[in-house]
Amino acid sequence: MAQVYLWLVAGVMLSSIPACSLGEDGRWTHKTDNWKILDLLRQLERIPPQLCLNDRIDFQCPWQRGNVTQMQKPQRTCVQHVVLQQIFSLFLSTDSHAVWNQTVLGQLLSSLASSLVRMQLAEEENLACPDWGNRVRKYFQGIHNYLKGKKYSSCAWEVVRVEIQVHLVLL
Ligand SMILES: *[C@@H]1O[C@H](CO)[C@@H](O)[C@H](O)[C@H]1NC(C)=O
Ligand SMILES: *[C@@H]1O[C@H](CO)[C@@H](O)[C@H](O)[C@H]1NC(C)=O
Repeated sequence: MAQVYLWLVAGVMLSSIPACSLGEDGRWTHKTDNWKILDLLRQLERIPPQLCLNDRIDFQCPWQRGNVTQMQKPQRTCVQHVVLQQIFSLFLSTDSHAVWNQTVLGQLLSSLASSLVRMQLAEEENLACPDWGNRVRKYFQGIHNYLKGKKYSSCAWEVVRVEIQVHLVLL
């Protein structure tokens, strides 16, 4: 049920982006990329998340609704870039390969990689978000530590998958 609710929220949020903001500053591209990445994250699901409720923890995601979307473009792009990089290295890890469907995982990694390349080409000058960069890296370090503590169990990965899916919507 939580999953259904989150997807409804994601759908509403994506459809409520004002049309006039699309394409104006590259946001369209990022939103489209995020949507594709979100879809692949959803396809990765292997165990119903409700079977893993006992493994849930609060990862203390540093961004909430509005934190990043209201930033000026250079900073926003910078934060999005750091987040996608962190997701990429998380799912690139060996322990991730052991858990997920290889086909979908491969598509996810390639989608993340091409988003990162596109952002870098367009925003080379904008790697200036030291504070947020540190916050985001600390958050992902917490996720890595959690997975290690849980011995990279399928449920732990499922908790992480949902965590990322939910928070990527807010970028
Ligand atoms: C994110 O936004 C919330 C509410 O808008 C605010 O309370 C919080 O301080 C912001 N976080 C950062 C790190 O700016
Ligand atoms: C992996 O996912 C693909 C695409 O959804 C599917 O066709 C394939 O059967 C899956 N493989 C396994 C082992 O579940």
